[in-house]
Amino acid sequence: MAAMRQSGFDDPFYQPADQFFPANNKLGLTFDDITLATLYSEVLPRDTQLDTQLAENLHLNIPAISSDMDTVTEARMAIAMAANGGLGLIHYNMPERQQLSEVSRVKNHVHGLIQEPITVAPDQLIGDVLKMIEERKFAFGTFPVVDEHGKLVGLLSGHVVKPRYAKRKVAAALTPRAQVHTIRQKELGKDPIAHADKFFNEHLGIHKLLVVDDKDHLRGLFTMSDIERIAMERNAQFKPARDARFHLVCGAAVSATRNAFGELDRERILTHVGGLVERGVDVVAVSTAHGHSKGVGDTVKVLRGAFPKLPIIAGNVTSAAGVEYLADCGANAIKVGQGPGSICTTRIVAGVGIPQMTALYVCSRAAAKKKVTVLADGGITKSGDIVKALTLAQAVICGGIFAGCNEAPGDVIEIGGKLYKQYRGMGSLAAMKAGSAARYGQPANPTQKVAAEGIEALKEACGSVDRVLAQLIGGIQSGMGYLGAANLPQLREKARYIRVSPAGMREAAPHDVVELKTGN
Ligand code: XMP
Repeated sequence: MAAMRQSGFDDPFYQPADQFFPANNKLGLTFDDITLATLYSEVLPRDTQLDTQLAENLHLNIPAISSDMDTVTEARMAIAMAANGGLGLIHYNMPERQQLSEVSRVKNHVHGLIQEPITVAPDQLIGDVLKMIEERKFAFGTFPVVDEHGKLVGLLSGHVVKPRYAKRKVAAALTPRAQVHTIRQKELGKDPIAHADKFFNEHLGIHKLLVVDDKDHLRGLFTMSDIERIAMERNAQFKPARDARFHLVCGAAVSATRNAFGELDRERILTHVGGLVERGVDVVAVSTAHGHSKGVGDTVKVLRGAFPKLPIIAGNVTSAAGVEYLADCGANAIKVGQGPGSICTTRIVAGVGIPQMTALYVCSRAAAKKKVTVLADGGITKSGDIVKALTLAQAVICGGIFAGCNEAPGDVIEIGGKLYKQYRGMGSLAAMKAGSAARYGQPANPTQKVAAEGIEALKEACGSVDRVLAQLIGGIQSGMGYLGAANLPQLREKARYIRVSPAGMREAAPHDVVELKTGN
């Protein structure tokens, strides 16, 4: 049986990482330079497990992280990533206060609880409500009624929001407070959805449950249809990534901030990260272009000393020495990637950086020795790249893939009938002027001469994060099925590689046909 599963004829061609990469050590290799060989499999793609442990206190259900970039990750993206089992790193190109509130928005987000419901006032006319529904294109017609202090007065049911009642006041049409079903915010407990689900089971015909605080101020709204959708999602294979208190996980990036004398501003860094920890942040990422540097190492040391249990990501590096240095300083997960990003020009501007698969191999070996994890950061354009990266890394960080999503910051722009969103490198002039210059070791003062290491670009609008991740996850699971890998450790253990020629590359993409529809 074993003979059917393996053959010695394969061995000289398809090699495991520890043979393949040292044998190709004169050449920097990236995703398209290699392909993975198939292996005997008893694993169906849909049965593969994608969870990954990045640090003792940081476990994700899918190995995907959205980049800490100002056109990629703010609260909305971080919520969508965590809801799908991954993680978002909130960028730091904003005032520290704002970053704290972005983290709070993620940590306080209750999936299924509408935290700022649309309300109406008692002295409005039903006609005004109808106009608002029309103007704002609401697909619902039931509204909590609150007074000028936000105190709950009643519920305006959709049954009475009709043109024939247009001239009546909301106060005359509402269901009074005493008859409205509510729950106290503090009674929601660890699993608010289960609570709401139970309520709807027990209250036949009631479709809305309002959440109030001790002073009867409106704090949220559950609808039965949302709860039913979430109950269905709970049977989904990949659960949201949550902390021990059942809140979505959230990461935040910080820089190695310096004071006016050019010294590391320890106090400011500690105050800022202290604030993030207070808000419940699950991991901080000391994010710079050159992680194998004293400033980054010292920042990690300061944070490790002050927050012994806080998971710390640090980077970016592309050498084993860089990984060892950051691990010794106290980092748990190391970002690997210098110049592979879709908006990066570091290799062109500075002449520095290593093609990603070679960098990942070298770094992964040092990381295993130091018992830290590796995050493959940048250059990923398709799910196949993720499968290749995950043969060496514990998770991937993507910017461009998520920048066109609805949940990324910024508006949709229409050009020539097509829809786009802005995507820019954190080392682009515009982003550095907005605050990210420290990440590239450049002066913060925008009037001084700076060398940009990134570009400003557009990404085609691509819908929701749910949709994009579903495609990517499908691809990862398919790759794992081909390698007979039931989980990510098995994928790392089983992978065998071979170089691809330019002709092999052409063969790998659709060719010699007129393409009618892309795979998506
Ligand atoms: P992708 O390929 O996913 O890359 O779009 C995102 C990653 O690129 C890094 N990044 C930059 N690198 N100049 C660079 O050289 C830049 O301006 C820049 N901005 C972001 C970062 O690691 C991100 O996760």
